[in-house]
Amino acid sequence: MVKDYIENNRNRFLEELFQWLRIPSVSADSSRKQDVRKAAEYLVRQLAAAGVDDVQLYETKGHPVVYGEKIIDAALPTVLVYGHYDVQPADPLDLWDSPPFEPVIKDEKIYARGACDDKGQVYMHVKAFEVMSKLGLLSCNIKFMVEGEEEVGSDNLADFVKQNIKKLSADIVLISDTALISLEHPSITTGLRGLSYMEVEVRGPNRDLHSGVYGGAVANPINTLCSMIASLHDTSGRVTIPGFYDKVSELSIDERRELNKAPFDINQYKSDLDIGEIKGEDGYTTLERTGIRPTLDVNGIWGGYTGEGAKTVLPSKATAKISMRLVPNQESAEITNLFTRHIQSIAPAYVSVKVTAHHGGEPAVTPTTSASFKAASMAFKDVFGKEPIPTRDGGSIPIVALFKKELGLDTVLMGFGFDSDAIHSPNEHYGVKNFTLGIETIVAFYKHFHTDKSE
Ligand code: BES
Ligand code: MN
Ligand code: MN
Repeated sequence: MVKDYIENNRNRFLEELFQWLRIPSVSADSSRKQDVRKAAEYLVRQLAAAGVDDVQLYETKGHPVVYGEKIIDAALPTVLVYGHYDVQPADPLDLWDSPPFEPVIKDEKIYARGACDDKGQVYMHVKAFEVMSKLGLLSCNIKFMVEGEEEVGSDNLADFVKQNIKKLSADIVLISDTALISLEHPSITTGLRGLSYMEVEVRGPNRDLHSGVYGGAVANPINTLCSMIASLHDTSGRVTIPGFYDKVSELSIDERRELNKAPFDINQYKSDLDIGEIKGEDGYTTLERTGIRPTLDVNGIWGGYTGEGAKTVLPSKATAKISMRLVPNQESAEITNLFTRHIQSIAPAYVSVKVTAHHGGEPAVTPTTSASFKAASMAFKDVFGKEPIPTRDGGSIPIVALFKKELGLDTVLMGFGFDSDAIHSPNEHYGVKNFTLGIETIVAFYKHFHTDKSE
C-alpha cells in the first residue's frame, strides 16, 4: 500500500523536489538572500499541500525558520522533525558536470547542490507525511522545523528554540541529514562530531616587499604560518595543542570492536578518492579516525601572489581557516580557547598573529536503547530486510546537542545519504532509490514508534 503510493507518485515527488533544488538557497552568500527566502516559501507551500497545519515562516535575525505541525491527539507521541533548506555554495562551478541548480537524473541519481544535503532528505519527510495523511496512517503528532542557517552555524535557530520551548515540546527529534553505509548495509548514526572553526592571520612587514631586495632578511608570513600549522601535528598524527585530548572520552575495547564491525572496504575507499595511502592518527582505524577521534584541518590558506605567472613578492600577511572536529566530552568553547592560547604561544616575535573564532558546535551521541531508536531499527528491518548497524559519523549537526540541552530531547539520526554523495563538493548527488526507500522507512518509523509508545 505505502510502497504502491510511493511508486505511483514517484515522478511527481521528484519533480516537486527538483523545483525546490532549482532555488539556489546558499545561506553563506548574502547576494542569495532572496533565494534563501524563496526556498523557505516553497517549503511552506509544500508542507501545507501535504496536509500540515499552521505552516509559517518565522523571521529571525538571519534566514527564516519554517515551522508547521499536525496534532492529531495530544495523548499520542509527538515527533519533532528537523532539517535544513539552506545549501553550501556551489563553487568551484567549473568542476560540475551539470549546473548545480539545474537538477538532472543520471544513473538513477539526482545531481544538484542540496540533492542530499539536505533538501532531498527533508523532502522525504514532506512526502512521508503526504503518504500517511492520504492513506490514513497518521499515528503520531508531527512538528516540522526546517531552518535556513544550518550550513552557517545555526546561530538564530538556537534563539528560535530557546524562545519556543513550549511550541517545540515533543518526545523525540527525528533528523535525516546523515549517511547510510550502503543499501545492502543499512545503518543508523549514533554520534556526530562537534566543531571549532578558527581563523589565523599572520602579519609581517607593513607592506608587500620585493622578495629579492628583502628576502632572507625579513620573515615571510606565509612561511611562518606554514611552519606554525605544520607544528600542530606530531609524527604520530596527534594534535599538539596542550590539553586538546584531556577531555576526550576513550571508548572501551568492546565498544571499539563493535564500531569496527561495520563493513568497510579500505581499497574501495582509496580508489574512490584516488589516493595511494590513507593517513591519520596512529593506533586507530579509519572508522575510528572519523567517528570517535578529534582532528585538526586547514580548510583554506591564502596570501601573497596567486595570479597568473610569477610575481616576486614577500607578502605582508598570510591567513588560514582551521577547523577542529570534536568528540565527547570536548567542549567547543574550551577547545577554541586552547587553540587561541597555543597559537599565540608559538607565534615568533618577528610576526604578529591574530586569532578569531568562527562558529562552533558540540558533539553528540544518541541513545541506542530508547523506544525511538528501536522504532528506527525496526523500520529499517522492514524496508531493507536487515537490522541497521549503529555508526558514528564524522560530520557535525550542532543543533542536536542544543535540542538535548534546551528541550531535553534525544535525537534519532535516520539519514539516507552515502559518504560518496559528494555533499559540499562539486557534483553532489542523491540516489533516487535512497529517496524512495527513505520515504518508506520514515513511514515505517512512525508506525513502530506509535505502537511502542502506546503499549
Ligand atoms: N549534514 C551535514 C553534517 C553531516 C554530514 C553529518 C555527513 C553526518 C554525515 C551538515 O549539513 C553539515 O555540513 N554540517 C557542517 C557543520 C556546520 C556547523 C557548518 C559540517 O559538518 O561541516
Ligand atoms: Mn546537512
Ligand atoms: Mn552540510
